[in-house]
Amino acid sequence: MDPEQARARIVALWKELEEHNHRYYVLADPIISDQEFDLRLKELERLEKEWPQFASANSPTQRVGGDITKEFATVPHRYPMLSLSNSYSQEEVAEFVARVEKEIGRTTYVMELKYDGVAISLSYMDGELVRGVTRGDGEKGDDITANVRTVRSIPLHLRGDFPKELEARGEILFMRAQFDRLNAARAERGEELYANPRNTAAGSLKQQDPKDVAKRGLDNFIYTLQGDQLPARSHFENMQAANRWGFKTPDVKRRFIERTDNVEGIMAFIAHWDAARHALEMDIDGIVIKVDDLDVQAELGMTAKSPRWAIAYKFQAEQAITRLNDVVYQVGRTGAITPVAELEPVLLAGTTVKRASLHNADQIAKLDLRIGDQVKVEKGGEIIPKIVGVEMDGRPADVPPVDFPHTCPECGTPLVRYEGEAQHYCPNEHACPPQIIGRIEHFVGRKMMAIDGLGGETVAELVRRGLIHNVADLYDLTKEKLLELGKGWGEKSAGQVVDGIAASRAIPFEQVLFAIGIRHVGETVAKKIARAVLSMDKLRAMSKDELIVLDEVGEVIAQSILDFFAVEGNRVIVERLRECGVQMEVDPASIQLVGDKLKGKTFVVSGVFRNFSRDSIKASIESNGGKVSGSISSKTSFVLAGADMGPAKRTKAETLKVSVIDEDEYMRMINE
Ligand code: IVH
Repeated sequence: MDPEQARARIVALWKELEEHNHRYYVLADPIISDQEFDLRLKELERLEKEWPQFASANSPTQRVGGDITKEFATVPHRYPMLSLSNSYSQEEVAEFVARVEKEIGRTTYVMELKYDGVAISLSYMDGELVRGVTRGDGEKGDDITANVRTVRSIPLHLRGDFPKELEARGEILFMRAQFDRLNAARAERGEELYANPRNTAAGSLKQQDPKDVAKRGLDNFIYTLQGDQLPARSHFENMQAANRWGFKTPDVKRRFIERTDNVEGIMAFIAHWDAARHALEMDIDGIVIKVDDLDVQAELGMTAKSPRWAIAYKFQAEQAITRLNDVVYQVGRTGAITPVAELEPVLLAGTTVKRASLHNADQIAKLDLRIGDQVKVEKGGEIIPKIVGVEMDGRPADVPPVDFPHTCPECGTPLVRYEGEAQHYCPNEHACPPQIIGRIEHFVGRKMMAIDGLGGETVAELVRRGLIHNVADLYDLTKEKLLELGKGWGEKSAGQVVDGIAASRAIPFEQVLFAIGIRHVGETVAKKIARAVLSMDKLRAMSKDELIVLDEVGEVIAQSILDFFAVEGNRVIVERLRECGVQMEVDPASIQLVGDKLKGKTFVVSGVFRNFSRDSIKASIESNGGKVSGSISSKTSFVLAGADMGPAKRTKAETLKVSVIDEDEYMRMINE
């Protein structure tokens, strides 16, 4: 293939892939299979690697994630991103219409859904997406372009008669089904669930690695255009034009957008969606009413923060009243106590509600709850409904307030409350059954030790029947012991568990560190720590000051690591895991480049180190892009000196004017 052929093929693949992308994600009308799509994408990836001069930031290959953004740049908005003034009643909407008509007479209004996601401004130049910026303070926002490119319903190249310069604004959000899929996957891995789609969308867009964003599966709707060369003076018509250029815009046929010239039309739209919104595939929190004519919009102008030509009508969060039957207390893996209200089942926003979250003791006290109360339950953006108030009428006089327990409901240990935290904890880590079960469940999870065949139920059974008390006990399990359990256990299931446990001995140290369940040490933090420190022994020997220097580790995590190793029981378990063959060090062969902070630098290592063996400090230098050399020369960038470095080396370094650094300085260098 000559360069011209390569370029032509790359461009053809771009076009084809973007067309299929549009059909799939915007029109929901695909014409090729996922496999065929992937085949073409792979071909494009291969060609772009071979001919990097023809790669482009807007290539469909960027949909799966481009380069990592270290810090999002703040950029000014060309047109300010305003917010809408809110209204909560139909009267307020009628007042808005009256005010508009008093000023400019009768006019046409557009009604739209108010999407509950994260606002985004997309800039296009010659039909190419050049920038995606968050709302920020309305004047300037964060440049999150690489993340925006992963949102499949956002076009990277526009089609048709688009203007030269354009800003399209809309909302990035999760469709409910996708959000549920994400949470189902988290549940399976034993991870905490995301609370609601909106916050998760916001959090996703702030990820530094676009590949992580791509995996989340965000969506987008465009709700306004800005620019000097818009095709029409009608907002509604501009939305139709945007749709032709490839944007996902409100669907006219499904009444996502509608036009009217009277207040009755507006009210009918509100009434329709107030009832129909629960069946939608995404969350909306209201309706937006806008004057359609852009010239009339300009005439009406704006107040300090919001336009005078638009108003949001916010739906009341749906409420129901029901009886509080009981408050139960759940004990989590970390010992955190969560109070849960048990309710007389009641229909709310399309589902039957039996339980509501009560968060903590303060929340219960604030509501002044009594068993038997008629309580007001509300379903906001959160999945779990919450109690927002109590109907005081009819409350019997002699019922005492709900008393938060002083001891653990599972093991009877007195509860503690740490300074600055709202939650109560059961401190009996090693003997409180739900904590033991929770920790073992976490340990066997897919992103941890990935032990197949051991789900939550099975772990609970093994603990209840006394076969295991901690994660190290797993390695003493045999097929015979499992078969002795009788019911439900056969050759196959017992074999699967034992094989899964055996295979977990090969799980890399990064995952082991996550699996042992140090508070606040999640997947990412564990990975970072493992790669910087390289072994369990070194981690255990580190002081708080040394820990804090590590990337991603602050005061809280450092303290939590110290607390973990301060407990004798934890140290014993770690030792037993080591004896069972679980990985306690980063495999030097697996060390990939964790960074390029030391690129172009050559080190000579000498003496004895506190946190590293000689080999591991060399591995650390190389994994950060540096080189290690045996003797000091004029090409040496640094001599990394531990204790007992010989005087001859020091003199040589001084003569050649090579800087001598110690271990702490080295840690700062790689963790900067
Ligand atoms: S128009 C000048 N239309 O609501 C008005 N906004 O407080 C610009 N939103 O930050 C916004 N759906 O993120 C408009 N159909 C819609 C909307 C919508 C959701 C969000 C938007 C904005 C907030 C306004």
